[in-house]
Amino acid sequence: MTTIKIFLLLLLLPPTVIFADSVAAPAPAPDNIFEKPGSLEKYTYIHLYVQIINPTQPLVVRGPNNNPLGFGNMIMVDNPLTEGIDSSSKLIGREQGYTIGISRDPDFSTTINFLTLNLAFTDGEHNGSTITVMGRDPVFNAQRELMVVGGTGAFRMARGYSFWTINSFNITGNSVVEGDIHVFHY
Ligand SMILES: *[C@@H]1O[C@H](CO)[C@@H](O)[C@H](O)[C@H]1NC(C)=O
Ligand SMILES: *[C@@H]1O[C@H](CO)[C@@H](O)[C@H](O)[C@H]1NC(C)=O
Repeated sequence: MTTIKIFLLLLLLPPTVIFADSVAAPAPAPDNIFEKPGSLEKYTYIHLYVQIINPTQPLVVRGPNNNPLGFGNMIMVDNPLTEGIDSSSKLIGREQGYTIGISRDPDFSTTINFLTLNLAFTDGEHNGSTITVMGRDPVFNAQRELMVVGGTGAFRMARGYSFWTINSFNITGNSVVEGDIHVFHY
């Protein structure tokens, strides 16, 4: 009976009242180690375009078969990020990183890459901050989804998701990919 009464009392009291006397407040983190994030998580939506000016990105490691996008191939990526769809629109940063072929299937059309990319903003409202996206990239899909796994500057402790849609594709010329990035950060 006593146990039930205590349990009901605990249910009725707000947690701060229950724990006020029994749990010491955590020690504040020393301010010289890192800036403590704010208590409220923010949401930022970013819309941008990747201008793939030279689609033959350098292959730096060749995988064990002859598929130019195949298993084990590592390709370096460094592309301009623009505000608008036109390659001459405002430059807001660069997409830099690498992709590695992860599908053993020799069929070219099922090529799947694993991407690790930094979006480094050099102008506009996010100037100086970065976002890191990574994930599975079936290269012939019109749209891919990549995870937002972190960030720096305004995007510290970022997480989220992003969609990448091929807007135009030209194997010998310029291609454009549209990015929709949903970021939760402090
Ligand atoms: C962007 O940030 C860099 C480095 O902090 C700074 O040098 C540059 O002036 C900034 N650009 C704009 C347009 O604010
Ligand atoms: C693809 O790019 C090449 C080289 O810039 C260009 O000559 C060709 O017209 C482009 N093709 C299309 C369909 O835009």
